[in-house]
Amino acid sequence: MSTTTVTYLADYRAPEFLIEKTHLTFKLHEGYTDVNSQLTIVRNPHSTHADHLVLHGEQLELLSLAVDEHPLGAGDYQITPQNMTVHNVPEHFILQCKTRIYPEKNTALEGLYRSSGMYCTQCEAEGFRKITYYLDRPDVMSEFETVIIAEEGAFSTMLSNGNCLSDTVYAGKRIVHWHDPFKKPSYLFALVAGNLVCLEDHFSTQSGRQVLLQIYTEAKDSDKCHFAMRSLKKAMCWDEQTYGREYDLDRFMIVAVDDFNMGAMENKGLNIFNTSCVLAHPASTTDAAFQRVERVIGHEYFHNWSGNRITCRDWFQLSLKEGLTVYRDSEFSADTNSRAVKRIEDANVIRSVQFVEDAGPMAHPVRPDSYIEISNFYTVTIYEKGAEVVRMLANILGPEQYRRATDLYFSRFDGQAVTCDDFVQCMEAVSGKDLRQFCLWYSQAGTPQLHISDSYDAARQQYSLTVRQHTPATPGQTEKQALHIPLKIALYGSKGVLALVIDGQNKGTETVLDICQDQQTIIFEQVAENPVPSLLRGFSAPVKIFYAYQLAQLQQLILLDSDGFCRWDAMQSLMRIVLCNAIDGKDNHAEQIMLVDTLKQLLADHASMDVALLACMLDLPSEQYLASLYDKANPTAISQARTQLQQQLAIQLQPELLGCYQTLQDKIQGLSAPAMAARSLRNRALAYLLHINDARYRNLAQLQFAQANNMTDQFAALRALVHTEHAGSTAQEALQAFYQQWQHETLVVNMWFQVQVTRPWGNVLQAVHKLLNHAAFDARNPNKLRAVIAAFTNQNFASFHDRSGKAYQFLADQIADIDQRNPQMAARLLTPLTHWHQFIDEHAILMRKALESLSQCELSKDVYEVVSKSLM
Ligand code: PHE
Ligand code: ZN
Repeated sequence: MSTTTVTYLADYRAPEFLIEKTHLTFKLHEGYTDVNSQLTIVRNPHSTHADHLVLHGEQLELLSLAVDEHPLGAGDYQITPQNMTVHNVPEHFILQCKTRIYPEKNTALEGLYRSSGMYCTQCEAEGFRKITYYLDRPDVMSEFETVIIAEEGAFSTMLSNGNCLSDTVYAGKRIVHWHDPFKKPSYLFALVAGNLVCLEDHFSTQSGRQVLLQIYTEAKDSDKCHFAMRSLKKAMCWDEQTYGREYDLDRFMIVAVDDFNMGAMENKGLNIFNTSCVLAHPASTTDAAFQRVERVIGHEYFHNWSGNRITCRDWFQLSLKEGLTVYRDSEFSADTNSRAVKRIEDANVIRSVQFVEDAGPMAHPVRPDSYIEISNFYTVTIYEKGAEVVRMLANILGPEQYRRATDLYFSRFDGQAVTCDDFVQCMEAVSGKDLRQFCLWYSQAGTPQLHISDSYDAARQQYSLTVRQHTPATPGQTEKQALHIPLKIALYGSKGVLALVIDGQNKGTETVLDICQDQQTIIFEQVAENPVPSLLRGFSAPVKIFYAYQLAQLQQLILLDSDGFCRWDAMQSLMRIVLCNAIDGKDNHAEQIMLVDTLKQLLADHASMDVALLACMLDLPSEQYLASLYDKANPTAISQARTQLQQQLAIQLQPELLGCYQTLQDKIQGLSAPAMAARSLRNRALAYLLHINDARYRNLAQLQFAQANNMTDQFAALRALVHTEHAGSTAQEALQAFYQQWQHETLVVNMWFQVQVTRPWGNVLQAVHKLLNHAAFDARNPNKLRAVIAAFTNQNFASFHDRSGKAYQFLADQIADIDQRNPQMAARLLTPLTHWHQFIDEHAILMRKALESLSQCELSKDVYEVVSKSLM
């Protein structure tokens, strides 16, 4: 790529033309598809008057073009690789355009493509322009009618958005006609044709309308849709109750496809799902995967209002729909599962992935200012940090005002394409609060750091907290301003939580401090003893906290804090102290004793605890997170310290871990929340025990593997065996048995790949090469790439950072190859190499070298953007 165009938010202009109606006819033929479009176009009355209509279009073969039935000749229009310009068009006209496309050759999985014989589309963000010439931008909203024509008998299922108007056979062709009455941007268009079976159900909305619900899959997966259907109905109910949002079409369809770049897509009335996010069956699906299905079903369904009815004006506003919808699905999950655990999971993603993104070359604000390729901006910053920003707004307003503000947002902007500012203005209008400073969360990149110190004045009975905030520079943004940070806190005394009095006002036992200045001090009165501060309760803001806790204070919070997130966080801090001491070669005796003692108390007392929370508390901080604590991290030292601590904890907690494993034995049947929690704690205990070189524990794992009646337990046992260096042939046999049993379940085979490449010992790169040649591997299938390449490079820290640098070069070589077929996937897989600056020179140099080798190749826009920004 020698010439690259950067798109800037500051350059946004309203469209010159609008498309009132879009009428599409797809003629599906083996080998090619002809698309006839008939667009009713008018000049945008609010825009300047251009004579030329400029449409987007890529990789299209133009067959014919007409304006108001008059065929256009060579001089009337002009075509470039990205656009078609039609000269001198009238105020109001019909453009007819015939193009030919080649879905079977489409390996990028964007536009219309074929996945195991079935036709499907993916148009977000800019894929529609690979289907026909169009104003492919989200602020052009149009009413769509779609006709699909295929050989009679070729496909049982032919779907598009909205309601089905007719389904007929004429002259050996099947003709299906769809109409979507809601105006939508082209990125929400969808078409599916294939031989699928369908699970049907009904939902009656709060106003009494009947909605037909359908989930389409290949016949072999027909038994794996029931959980998704239950989740869908739950989500529909939840959105009515929580946001007052009702579904609007007569029909809601979901289609599962095996080849999909992302998790799922919210096309109006016709969601398309990666099979990994919709199929589920107790025998073949883990608890974690069940929860993912529920969450993604909720997410895509919730988009119907937050995304479809109200969409984004331009792609810089992507977080308007994604941040809000992630916040909505996260609350949906918290309401159906454990709220504390959900909060911990969210915080963990922010800390070990989003903070790392913020510290790297791809750092960007929740509302970016520029991009080369928008596909590269479907990031944890836009999604998860964006959700945290909405959560902060919801907390600042409180539940009642937040609900009124979202009601206002949905009614004020229904049917429009709007901005993040429009959303915040609704929050301001309802609450009367000035949110101008808060809006910096949208425009300023980077992770804010809060440095907190305290002092206690016994004579005055006063406790003061001094909070200093600082956001490190990010690429292109060196100066940072103070943000409005809601810091939720409580104070603990020796007998429990303390009453909070600030400025003579009683604040109860928990309060939110509005941190708005570079530095500010808050004084608590009538404090009878020097307290322990419980900070950032419920992870009230996506920030890093620095406060020098004493070990005993951490222990107190771990055992007694009423906030589940803070208990877990205090445990993470204690573990972090032990790990960093080990990494830095410091004496660690007292810290280790404290950690073991605390874990002993928790495990011994597990009967009285939230078991799901306890399971989370056993997890050591991730290697990525530990690396992010250093200016220049030594990956080998980090992995070693972590493995050693796992071994030491296993040895010292042996009786408690085994006790837990055994007493929870009779609580693990079924899919209830307590059963899932019991499984998760038991399987963590098992994984720890296998760190001890003792045949008893391997037998335990082997037995669990053989006897399990659910995938969670079977896979956890397999994982424990494969991940211990001592298991030898036992692990090999289990791996073989697992493959034998599950070779016909693609999603389970992916887990089988994943468990091998994440093994924390031995020459894993060699194993990866072998698996890439395995009959079940397919380099064109994104799920397979994720199961082997992404799992190896993101979840096997020790092997990816092998001193030889071979894994770095391996990744670069793979990306060069994948980029030829699927640029979006290639760019995503690149992420681990972009973090080179985090590591000591020995590694950083080799990582850069791999990136540089890639920069010598002919690259897509997608990969070019990531490589060039990483090498800057
Ligand atoms: N909009 C989809 C979602 O958030 C994600 C997606 C983006 C899917 C781009 C495909 C392509 O659910
Ligand atoms: Zn989304």
